[in-house]
Amino acid sequence: MKQLFAKKPLELLLEEMKGENRLRRILGPVALTSLGVGAIIGTGIFVLTGIAAHDKAGPAIILSFVFAGLACVFAALCYAEFASMVPVAGSAYTYAYATLGEMFAWIIGWDLILEYAVASATVAHGWSHYFQDFIGIFGLKIPFAMQRAPFDFNPDTGLLSSTGTFIDLPAIIIAAIVTIILVKGIRESAGFNSTMVIIKLVIVLFVIVVGAFYIVPENWKPFAPFGYTGISFFGKTIFGQTGLGGAPVGMLAAAATIFFAYIGFDSISTHAEEAKNPKRDVPIGIIASLLICTVLYIAVSAVLTGMVPSDKINIDAPVSNAFAQVGLPWAQFLISFGALAGITSVLLVMMLSQPRIFLAMARDGLVPPSVFGAVHEKFRTPWKSTILTGIFVAVLAGFLPLRILAELVNIGTLFAFVIVCSAVLIMRRTHPNAERPFRAPFVPLVPILGIITCLVLMFSLPGENWLRLFGWLAIGAVIYVFYGRKHSVMHKLMNGEK
Ligand code: ALA
Repeated sequence: MKQLFAKKPLELLLEEMKGENRLRRILGPVALTSLGVGAIIGTGIFVLTGIAAHDKAGPAIILSFVFAGLACVFAALCYAEFASMVPVAGSAYTYAYATLGEMFAWIIGWDLILEYAVASATVAHGWSHYFQDFIGIFGLKIPFAMQRAPFDFNPDTGLLSSTGTFIDLPAIIIAAIVTIILVKGIRESAGFNSTMVIIKLVIVLFVIVVGAFYIVPENWKPFAPFGYTGISFFGKTIFGQTGLGGAPVGMLAAAATIFFAYIGFDSISTHAEEAKNPKRDVPIGIIASLLICTVLYIAVSAVLTGMVPSDKINIDAPVSNAFAQVGLPWAQFLISFGALAGITSVLLVMMLSQPRIFLAMARDGLVPPSVFGAVHEKFRTPWKSTILTGIFVAVLAGFLPLRILAELVNIGTLFAFVIVCSAVLIMRRTHPNAERPFRAPFVPLVPILGIITCLVLMFSLPGENWLRLFGWLAIGAVIYVFYGRKHSVMHKLMNGEK
């Protein structure tokens, strides 16, 4: 019992940072912000916006982006406070270890696999869709059996149905390529990432500026055809309308879907060990990248719903398709290309972050250090866990459909945000005098609002996601009981073992 709630002392965390087996410190504030933007703008805005506007919110998707953005700002301020206090690689996992104890730390570490590895699989899918769109412009095609996952969610029936295919081959290939790049090293990765980020920012600005000329204000009416809420409680809608398939619809329900678009700003906190001046630059990177993306998203969703009536928004490639619908096919080419670059950079950062969380967990003995703690002699990268992550991502992306993966990622990430906000509240009480180079403003208000808004979003997802989350956590609990509990470094320290 004592071990379950054993907390890792802040001093120990800071002491460990001085040890061996560290990553290279090469990232400044611009590189970190760029990594953040690189992780954020991708499948969410380029793919999920269409599904959410078409099926769940109509033009009120603009407010969905405001609401989800707000929830993320509260969480980001809490992340920033922690990242400045404990600038080690483990992100929320480490924060939980220091405040809530080993059991919560494990839960969060396990949960973060949903955020990073499962998100990577989701993103690889989005990449595959745009890739196939893009080569389609040149009349090329992937063989049908290798175009997508073997089954998918049918929004009309709310059931899973067979797609008649076997595997999403492009998704698997991109996961493999990104894995190879990451094993080679973060300097190369950061350079590759910057190029991708610039391309996608130019394309997003292009969408906003050129698209603005094609806005027909009539398209914004009615503004919220599905209402402004959409909250359910384990499968029963308690606020708002219920859509086909039984899931809630409305502005908040759409916010819970497009929340995926914001995921990634917190990945900066997993690079704290590679930051030159983590205490200052990591909070800057987190907050700057989130704010940039929030503004861009609100603008893109306003332009998109202004250009095309919501029921005509394409759900596969909504942004590029909107330009085709207003008679600009050349813009479709450009946007598909930009989306492809954008989504690649998301994949890069997400798959970069997962092994870093494993690294932190391996140092604490909760996962086998021989695999997850190994840093490559020459490349100084956690190469074994990068390869394992790559295999996991490729398998999920090859066989599971995008919507289901995306919702699972959202509930898992929202759960992590709730814990980080709670941990800030606890840390302020237990360590009131610890050095906090960055302090979240208006504590306790900001963390409390973060907890409430994230919970609202969790309850706005289709109810089955709670079961999936609990199922995932149950698997994690079994692994902890049979492995982590016995091998934990804290456990050994508490028992006087070496
Ligand atoms: N925010 C990232 C995306 O939308 C995960 O692709």
